[in-house]
Amino acid sequence: MNQIGIGIATGKIILIGEHAVVYGKPAIALPFYAAKIETTVTITQSESTIDCVFYTGKLNTAPESIEGITALIHAVLKYLNKENVNIDININSMLPASRGLGSSAAVSVSIVRALFDAFEIKITEDIMKELVLVAESIHHLNPSGLDANTITRGVPTLFERDKLMDSIAMNMDGYLVVADTGVLGNTKEAVATFGTQLECEPEKMKPYLDEFTQLAMKTVRGLELNDIASVGEAMNRAHELLRLFGVSETTLDTLVNAARRAGAVGAKLTGSGQGGCMIALAPNLTVASEISAVLKGHGAVQTWQYHLKEMV
Ligand code: MEV
Repeated sequence: MNQIGIGIATGKIILIGEHAVVYGKPAIALPFYAAKIETTVTITQSESTIDCVFYTGKLNTAPESIEGITALIHAVLKYLNKENVNIDININSMLPASRGLGSSAAVSVSIVRALFDAFEIKITEDIMKELVLVAESIHHLNPSGLDANTITRGVPTLFERDKLMDSIAMNMDGYLVVADTGVLGNTKEAVATFGTQLECEPEKMKPYLDEFTQLAMKTVRGLELNDIASVGEAMNRAHELLRLFGVSETTLDTLVNAARRAGAVGAKLTGSGQGGCMIALAPNLTVASEISAVLKGHGAVQTWQYHLKEMV
């Protein structure tokens, strides 16, 4: 048995289809390698402890705010038949939380990997997804599984709820700029807002929901055929639809409009919205750098940029 286990996970970026994916529509998500989460598990004789950005102390007196994490740790120990083993668990995150970059799923994946590593047990993709869902169901309302799947697989993915996923050909020469508004989003609330819009005005909103399928397919084709204009168009329309569902807000709209004026072929919020991050698609590095500078000038607290082919 190892004395120490280490688990690393990246975040994710949703290119198209957030929220609609909860209702069975296809979505495209990419791994976000720019920031990582590393969890270390040390087996100990003393009482179990946890050290993370939200709390440091004994595991059994952890606050309700990290209930998802503690439930996950107990579920994994139970699955491994190690409920009586004490551990010190340290979660070190470079991925900002509540920004639509998948930090909660990434924390979960890194915890599961670290625990399996500590006990030298191999994990399958299916067991990982099942365990991560323990925490996701506490953090989120009705999670689609998109975040957990993308982070577990670490490749660009076309995802549809409860279906087998496809990896996507990334033949496109564009750059993606990711900008953090600095406004904290809340996935549970944003998912509830989207659902309420759909319930209150089904005749008006259902066609908008259905449109996300065409946008995802247009994006898949665009990525395959290196057609940056059509991917940009799909992103712009997706942002308009997400606004109609009430999951954008002023800061996101300001950054999206500023990015388009600075030369982005497409721009939209990414993740659950109502704060968090936005993404902009640029044809080359010069335009991507210009967009990043403009977004910072408009209040973005952090930006990242990278070539779409780097995400493979
Ligand atoms: C959150 O990263 C993505 C959402 O579509 C929720 C989900 O898929 O469970 C908003």
